[in-house]
Amino acid sequence: MNAATTASAFKAAMRHYPSGVTVVTSVRDGEPRGITLTAFASVSADPPMVLVCVNRDARSYLYIASSRVFCVNLLSARQQELAERFSGKIREHQFDDIAYETDATGAPVLPGTIAHFDCEVVEEHHAGTHSIFIGRVVSCEAREGTPLGYFNGGFHDFGMRVE
Ligand SMILES: Cc1cc2nc3c(=O)[nH]c(=O)nc-3n(C[C@H](O)[C@H](O)[C@H](O)COP(=O)(O)O)c2cc1C
Repeated sequence: MNAATTASAFKAAMRHYPSGVTVVTSVRDGEPRGITLTAFASVSADPPMVLVCVNRDARSYLYIASSRVFCVNLLSARQQELAERFSGKIREHQFDDIAYETDATGAPVLPGTIAHFDCEVVEEHHAGTHSIFIGRVVSCEAREGTPLGYFNGGFHDFGMRVE
């Protein structure tokens, strides 16, 4: 496989990996920013740590890298509109009609989500086009609801249990 084939084969294979959908928010000089992101994982429970992978070309990258805070908002199956909004559909005034709250770090906590993890960045690793931010969870909360999922290029309701 040459490099181009490898990239397209990689993307085709990754499309088959299902994931939850998050909006990762941050705040810099009082200005909030958010990015739709599926590259989120649990790292450690004690101490609680998570990771997110952010493209360094994304505007959100500068917000997280400079403020050193982010909040992972786990979207519910009813929040596809938010996933689309924060994946580039609205580039300015992203939060204009969203009544968000804040937790420990000041990064936006979106309403109607099924959980959030409010984090302080403890490590950043460059890997290809992306940066892996490892966040120490300073506050988190779980709420009712079923998750929005992403698989094979489309959004799904991941609330169905296999018996
Ligand atoms: C379902 C979905 C998942 C995405 N996952 C990621 C991701 O894990 N990391 C990332 O950097 N971008 C991801 N993106 C792309 C960003 O949401 C998109 O590039 C965004 O417009 C960047 O916005 P910004 O430049 O305003 O920060 C994803 C997009 C979608 C629709």
